[in-house]
Amino acid sequence: MLTNNMSVNKLLSMTTPTSTFAPQVASFFDPDTSTFTHVVWDETGGRAAVIDPVLGFDPASGLTSLVPLQPVLDHLRLHHLTLDWILETHAHADHLSSAPQLQARMGGRIAIGRGIAGVQATFKRLFHLEPELPTDGRPFDHLFDDGERFQIGRLQAQAWHVPGHTPADIAYVVGDAVFVGDTLFPPDVGTARCDFPGGDARALYRSVQRLLSLPADTRLYMCHDYPSTGRPVEAMTPAGRQAELHVHVHRGIDEAGFVAMRHARDAVLAPPRLMIPSIQVNIRAGHWPAPDPADPAGGQYLKQPIRPPRDPLASH
Ligand SMILES: [Fe+2]
Repeated sequence: MLTNNMSVNKLLSMTTPTSTFAPQVASFFDPDTSTFTHVVWDETGGRAAVIDPVLGFDPASGLTSLVPLQPVLDHLRLHHLTLDWILETHAHADHLSSAPQLQARMGGRIAIGRGIAGVQATFKRLFHLEPELPTDGRPFDHLFDDGERFQIGRLQAQAWHVPGHTPADIAYVVGDAVFVGDTLFPPDVGTARCDFPGGDARALYRSVQRLLSLPADTRLYMCHDYPSTGRPVEAMTPAGRQAELHVHVHRGIDEAGFVAMRHARDAVLAPPRLMIPSIQVNIRAGHWPAPDPADPAGGQYLKQPIRPPRDPLASH
């Protein structure tokens, strides 16, 4: 696992430009959840943001692990970086966030799109979560509006609302680097599913078109890769290459065609392996539910719905 993380980082560090307008980026791949965490920074000894940090989680035992976060911490320390921001692209359904664990060690403000309030309300209702759980964006430290500008040290950054996968997805534009979250995956892999509550394939198509309208050499950093052909994982694809080669959204694919494809694919996708725990943690900015008062040891617990089996005769 460490070897994979190190090799991806080494590869990307070798190929990443270093001016203020082409910020430095290092990417770290967690093979257990196929997720990239990205670090973007202005200069050694300067300021940084971390995008989508991952917490290791074993659902069978409930044990968590900082293994996916460790190379990110090492990188920040190696380059003497001060962490300004911990940026979530959305409430992930495939991994738990390690934003609070990162914040406890390195500081920084945990941020996400303003639409997270609606996502919190939806899942509070679906999971029958505790009445006191906020649905106004807390406990995130900051909620971004579409087009909002912010600084990462000397770097100018901007939040773009790119809904579709969820209603609240944000892409972070930092110079010529854009952290696109779950909109696009590498060209041979496809696009994000749109069948979660509030998902909208039409909106995703429009969000992707917004990203692909950027200059061809814009670096698009993705949240995931699921290579099927034995190629190395790919953290970044230039916008021009996506527009030319992307299996779901290359030039010539119109909105109606994309929506029909997305609906057909989503109809047969299984839920993500870590969906139930991930959602409950990630709508709390990575924090866990309060200790259970019924547990003298102060244990923390997530909910797991259980449903009756489908009656095989019901449709006859
Ligand atoms: Fe996602």
